[in-house]
This record gives sequence, C-alpha cells and structure tokens, in this order.
Amino acid sequence: MSGKPISAARRVPDPIPPTGPDRGIGGEAVWTRVAVLAAFAAGPIVPVRAAGQALLLVRDGDRVFAVERACPHEGADLAGGRCAGGRLLCPHHRASFALADGAVSPGWSFRRLRTYPVRLVGDAVWVAAGQGAS
Ligand code: FES
Repeated sequence: MSGKPISAARRVPDPIPPTGPDRGIGGEAVWTRVAVLAAFAAGPIVPVRAAGQALLLVRDGDRVFAVERACPHEGADLAGGRCAGGRLLCPHHRASFALADGAVSPGWSFRRLRTYPVRLVGDAVWVAAGQGAS
C-alpha cells in the first residue's frame, strides 16, 4: 500500500444524513456503512452489500470507489477481476471499466458499469445505493 491517506472517490455535500440500511424514503439512495478501511488489507477489491445490492469497493491508489459486482456484459463476478490504472478488469472476457464513471473499454457495446457515491467517515466506508443511486 502507498501509505497515503485514502480519499472517497466522490465528494458529496455535507452534512450527509446517514440513514440505516434499507431505510430509503421515496426511492432515494440510502447511505450505508459497508466496511472499514482495514478490509483492504487483503486486497484492493472488497465485496459488500448495500441497500440489498451486491457491490464492490475498489481501492485504486489513495482513492476508494464503489461499483456493481456483476459485469454488465454476461454477469461475471468482478470480485475476481483486477484493478489497475483507474480501471477494473473483468476476469471473463477482459473488458475493463473506468472506476470514475463506469465507462467500458473501446470495442464493447454494452452499458457502463454502475458506480455509487462513496464517503469516508473516520475509518468507515459509506456507500449510497438504492433506486436513487447512479
Ligand atoms: S462477462 Fe465481463 S466482459 Fe464479458
């Protein structure tokens, strides 16, 4: 690891009113505490669940991103992929996705990977997921 502090991939306006898991109102995204930073000791890709969705936390250098776990192509488990240069590589057909916005690598015609806002509070990682998330 780099030893540099980790930052959330996206900054969201403060104050964030964290709500408990599955307490979304009106279809809005729900902030859920999904992990602590120590979870990255085993590797840069950490499977989590938020608002009933299977997601991945991905540490790329000093940043943490949250993305959907299933590849939008044929549903491969991206937890078995690799992270390099700001991209997540699918282990099945090797398409890659930009961690910042989910854009798929050139030559593929399926949709982008869904990404989710991340917020770090102390050593806790919070993710906004649910119907209102992107
Ligand atoms: S299943 Fe991921 S690129 Fe095909």
